[in-house]
Amino acid sequence: MKIDKKDILKALEHITVPGEGQNMVDSGAVTNIQIFGDEVEIDITIKNPSLQARKKTEVEILKIIHKEVYAKAKIKINVKVEAPDTKPNKVNEIKGKAIPGISNIIAVASGKGGVGKSTVTANLAVTLSKMGFKVGLLDADIYGPSMPIMFDVPNEKPLAVNIAGKSKMKPVESYGVKLLSIGFFTQRDQAVIWRGPMASKALNQMIFDAHWGDLDFMLIDLPPGTGDIHLSIMQALPITGAVVVSTPQEVALADARKGVAMFQQDSINVPVLGIIENMAYFTPAELPENKYYIFGKEGAKHLAEDLKVPFLGEIPLVQSIREAGDVGRPAALQSGTPVEAAFEEITRQVVSEVVGRNKTLPPTEAIKITTMAGCSAVKKK
Ligand SMILES: Nc1ncnc2c1ncn2[C@@H]1O[C@H](COP(=O)(O)OP(=O)(O)O)[C@@H](O)[C@H]1O
Ligand SMILES: [Mg+2]
Repeated sequence: MKIDKKDILKALEHITVPGEGQNMVDSGAVTNIQIFGDEVEIDITIKNPSLQARKKTEVEILKIIHKEVYAKAKIKINVKVEAPDTKPNKVNEIKGKAIPGISNIIAVASGKGGVGKSTVTANLAVTLSKMGFKVGLLDADIYGPSMPIMFDVPNEKPLAVNIAGKSKMKPVESYGVKLLSIGFFTQRDQAVIWRGPMASKALNQMIFDAHWGDLDFMLIDLPPGTGDIHLSIMQALPITGAVVVSTPQEVALADARKGVAMFQQDSINVPVLGIIENMAYFTPAELPENKYYIFGKEGAKHLAEDLKVPFLGEIPLVQSIREAGDVGRPAALQSGTPVEAAFEEITRQVVSEVVGRNKTLPPTEAIKITTMAGCSAVKKK
């Protein structure tokens, strides 16, 4: 007997989750179905946290599948509970709900533009992927999306896929990283002047109308600064933690400080995983032992100490990093190089901060709904 996913979905349409008007397929409660021979594994997310509601739903699922699809099916049901949050919805632009299947969301920010935020994000993403994690990258920099170029997919357009009867955007994949960028939807040389609501709508679609699948990490390349867009994203998504990128330069540090403060303010309250010092020193390729501290020495490290947030490490200013970004193959992919080693070290620090954070803190609350999903420690493939 070959079990068909379609038949399972059809059967599940008979069930209404307690407290929901629609059937559980249409309400989006069914987040994943996997079939192995006569075994069926179903992931569901329900809003009613009571044990009774859970049990009732589970029993109904077992019954209906045995009755309508296959009497001998072995069924495993994974239930995730989304508890409603009572906080008021202050920035009403992006709908706050968890993204099923995504374990950790890391926002990468910088106060100032041009400090290498996107470069660092791209290299973190490919390094995480090399380490065996499932990685997605959301380029939310509406002012200067750079991921299509950095990942060598400047002319790609995300395709539409049909997931449980709904049309979803399929992220573009490059170097093992799933990618969506605001740049995929604009002309390359076209100056984009996004109004707040437009930008929020586009971001909302890339977040919730996309088929990201299961991810261990989703990295978000935020626009520089500390504006409305940041607030919308922070308040809409259950962000696990934030990484702030700065150069050692005074003007960059002042803005990085504002960036950290933004995450720590009461209404946002996103844990800061730490600060990365980019362009920490210049090293010429032919004299790799020589370090020139052209933007000042250890500025970001001192800032981290001052703000009592972790220091995640430093990346040198080297020509190969800039070239790699321009040709669309992140430098951390060049194996055996000091640049690869530097990104590996920083990525390990980030992962270790995420694990520590997930052990000690409750999941960050998105505006309407708190997810239990962010609570689990990072998992490896
Ligand atoms: N460590 C580095 N060494 C050399 N060039 C770098 C480094 N980090 C960033 N760059 C270059 O600096 C420029 C700005 O970096 P980018 O990542 O686009 O900054 P942001 O996203 O903060 O605006 C890019 O041309 C990039 O290739
Ligand atoms: Mg950028």
